[in-house]
Amino acid sequence: MAVDLLLGLQWGDEGKGKIVDVLTSNYNIIARFQGGPNAGHTLVFNGQKHVLHTIPSGIFHDDAVNLVGNGVVIDPVIFKKELDKLAEQGVDYVSKLKISRKAHLILPTHRLLDAASETAKGKAKIGSTLKGIGPTYMDKTGRNGIRVGDLELDDWKIRYRNLANKHEAMIGFHNVEIQYDLDELEAEFFEAIEVLKTIPFIDSEEYIFNALESEKTILAEGAQGSLLDIDFGTYPYVTSSNTTAAGACIGLGVAPGKIGDVFGIFKAYTTRVGSGPFPTELFDKDGETMGRVGHEFGATTGRARRCGWLDLVALKYACQINGVTQLMMMKADVLSGFKRIKVCTAYQYKGETISHLPFNIEEKNVSPVYTELKGWKADLTGMNKAEELPEELNEYIHFLEKELGIPIKIVSVGPDREQTIFR
Ligand code: IMP
Repeated sequence: MAVDLLLGLQWGDEGKGKIVDVLTSNYNIIARFQGGPNAGHTLVFNGQKHVLHTIPSGIFHDDAVNLVGNGVVIDPVIFKKELDKLAEQGVDYVSKLKISRKAHLILPTHRLLDAASETAKGKAKIGSTLKGIGPTYMDKTGRNGIRVGDLELDDWKIRYRNLANKHEAMIGFHNVEIQYDLDELEAEFFEAIEVLKTIPFIDSEEYIFNALESEKTILAEGAQGSLLDIDFGTYPYVTSSNTTAAGACIGLGVAPGKIGDVFGIFKAYTTRVGSGPFPTELFDKDGETMGRVGHEFGATTGRARRCGWLDLVALKYACQINGVTQLMMMKADVLSGFKRIKVCTAYQYKGETISHLPFNIEEKNVSPVYTELKGWKADLTGMNKAEELPEELNEYIHFLEKELGIPIKIVSVGPDREQTIFR
């Protein structure tokens, strides 16, 4: 058997949680492989909205095992809050959740360091979700981090103290005013650690290897998006993990040859939250309409997302890097009512027209070249069959499939599980 991957192809918020939830019945195991509580995966079913941050999006299904892989960073406090919500909804998570011993822990002082670093950067700030993601991955690569498996060792609290003390000194180094009460934060943290310990900790690479050997089906669930990848994204305005396909191999311990289908999720337009370049960003009524109709506010931070037309140059790049085999287009319903739909098919870059993503896509270097297509009027939100889609939307879909050379297998026309059209 192989591990299928599901990834976001833009700057995150593509709707990955919904599609994982829709596809979960085809899989025995759903595994998160990178990121942490900076993610906000929204699922809607039976008229109720659920937001998950660290827990994989298969948790609401009865049979799937949900694995938090070694590449994920876990904040026990946020994790506990997620578990509390699941318990309120009667979800039996203990039998369905497993955590890799090699996943790293986000400490309260990682969050404080994130805030200090962003404040010190001033206008050049990344626009981080302030969940401590960057500092935790820094400690991982710096070989200072504390892992879930360390919680089983007698001396982990000594190691915790040493690291937290070092972080406090580092916060001072940033020379900015950060208000905090570490005693209070630590009380909450240690309480949450006890709850975390009720979830089985496993050697997840061994678990996955054995699952593949015994013909189990596995879906790896990506977080954030390809353009936020630490290597291939719009650096430095990126997150601190590899959000692209190769990240799943590292973040789960799966050999490259064991990867099967790669499902690439994208919105019918583009959004971005936080700072950084965005060539097709709109500052006009069209952008405002996309934001309003698409409810474009961050699921984790509540921040308004920046909106713009679909950028095919960036999307093609993401498809190449990830080896996407099937595409899934989200939020097609949000574009209903636009007279003309624009798609960026090339960039004007230093006096040339180019169709690849160059090193620097800052506004001063790049301007989008658009192709215009006819829009459609029909409200799509009640549709559930491919035959019902308006002709102009089919033309849009065919245009994208031809440009990208990959089939679009799902068109999503609303947040609910039911509002999903298979092609
Ligand atoms: P961090 O990962 O919290 O450090 O944030 C780094 C950048 O990635 C910021 O621009 C965030 O807004 C963005 N980001 C992080 N996680 C997500 C996500 O799940 N969706 C969209 N943007 C994200």
